[in-house]
Amino acid sequence: MSKPIPEFDIDIFSHESVRNANAVDDRLREFSPVVRLPGENVTMIARFEHVSSGLRDWKTFSSTSRPWHDPNSVRPELLLTDDPPKHTGVRSVVANALSPQAMSQMAEAFRADADALIGRLKAQGDGVQVDAVADISQAFVYKVLPDLLGLPEAGREHLSAFGNMVWATMGPMNTLFHETMAATGQPVIDWATDACKRDNLLPGSLGMAMYEAADRGEITTDEAYLLVGILLSAAADTTVITLANAVRAFSEFPDQLELVRNEPKLVRAAFEESLRWDSPSRMAGRIAMRDVEIDGYVIPAGERCGLMFAAANRDPRKWTDPERFDVRRPNTGHLGFGFGVHACVGRALAMLEADALLGAFTRHVTRVTPAGAVEPWMTTIGHGPAKLPVHLQF
Ligand code: HEM
Repeated sequence: MSKPIPEFDIDIFSHESVRNANAVDDRLREFSPVVRLPGENVTMIARFEHVSSGLRDWKTFSSTSRPWHDPNSVRPELLLTDDPPKHTGVRSVVANALSPQAMSQMAEAFRADADALIGRLKAQGDGVQVDAVADISQAFVYKVLPDLLGLPEAGREHLSAFGNMVWATMGPMNTLFHETMAATGQPVIDWATDACKRDNLLPGSLGMAMYEAADRGEITTDEAYLLVGILLSAAADTTVITLANAVRAFSEFPDQLELVRNEPKLVRAAFEESLRWDSPSRMAGRIAMRDVEIDGYVIPAGERCGLMFAAANRDPRKWTDPERFDVRRPNTGHLGFGFGVHACVGRALAMLEADALLGAFTRHVTRVTPAGAVEPWMTTIGHGPAKLPVHLQF
């Protein structure tokens, strides 16, 4: 006999909740191990133990029909919306192209871009005020990612609006969704549609590698096209926000910046800890394929569920002093990159970007201090700063 699943009386996707997403998600996690969102007809789990075991068990928590699933949305329906065995073949194409070995060839170019960017900020002098999103993390990722994918220069200014649109399609069709869609406009959709076509990609690029896999018969040409769009959307804002959050963490925990400056090999640990401390992905959706019992509550077969990465990464049952950004914390197993068959396939690329950007940042910046209010990214499933004003000392 299942205990009745408690209903949460807060709309976790309202404007106000999105502005306070961490507090809202923490409250949901502590409310009950299994929580129903009556307005959404979705069941959430947010405790580390349950989220990680759910992500591991793809047969029970299938990806083939996620909450708010709309087959007509602009979001590409491939890979994230498949289970094995279909998922396995497509994923291996992407995994080969994004292997640490393939990515290591990019290290020098990334370092040059990061050094040039931080150098330009340094040239503006001590105490310069910048937006750590627009002027640091976005300036870097929005340059190296389309370069790597082989996208044309023209139209790259649409990347941010494209990201907003794709993230919006992962959540409910509420007011925020409609506001995002209204702000996007046809030119953004036209750009994204054209940019991922074979004729517009540079030879030797990551984007072209998808079409070459199609030439070898590993995937279809239609799938290659979708994969370029998936890479463009999955790799952009996640990395922008994790890098920006690392800068925010250095401003709130100056001792941790000092630690990394003294021991540069801690740069990757700082990036991973940024991801645990404040994860850019609030949750991922799945559908329950059978009745699932969690702590005496039974989620019925067919129920759409949200597995809350960010709340699990701050679960005090798992993490000591979770609000503390601690680059020496043993944070292996955090869920910021997901877990199980869909765990992030772009991890090696994200790490390489972190090496370059946070490496240059921590080499040159001695102190970073807040310079105004942080503006949140107004989206339902993603989470993080949209504007992060800081002063930099060199
Ligand atoms: C810090 C940066 C990043 C974060 C936080 C992140 C986060 C995630 C998460 C949480 C998932 C799992 C989603 C789920 O289970 O439903 C995922 C999957 C994925 N990520 Fe990332 N990601 C990052 C960077 C990247 C990059 C740089 C790329 C590509 C170059 C990428 C491509 C993908 C793809 C294609 C998937 C789907 C994998 C699959 O379904 O098997 N990500 N990512």
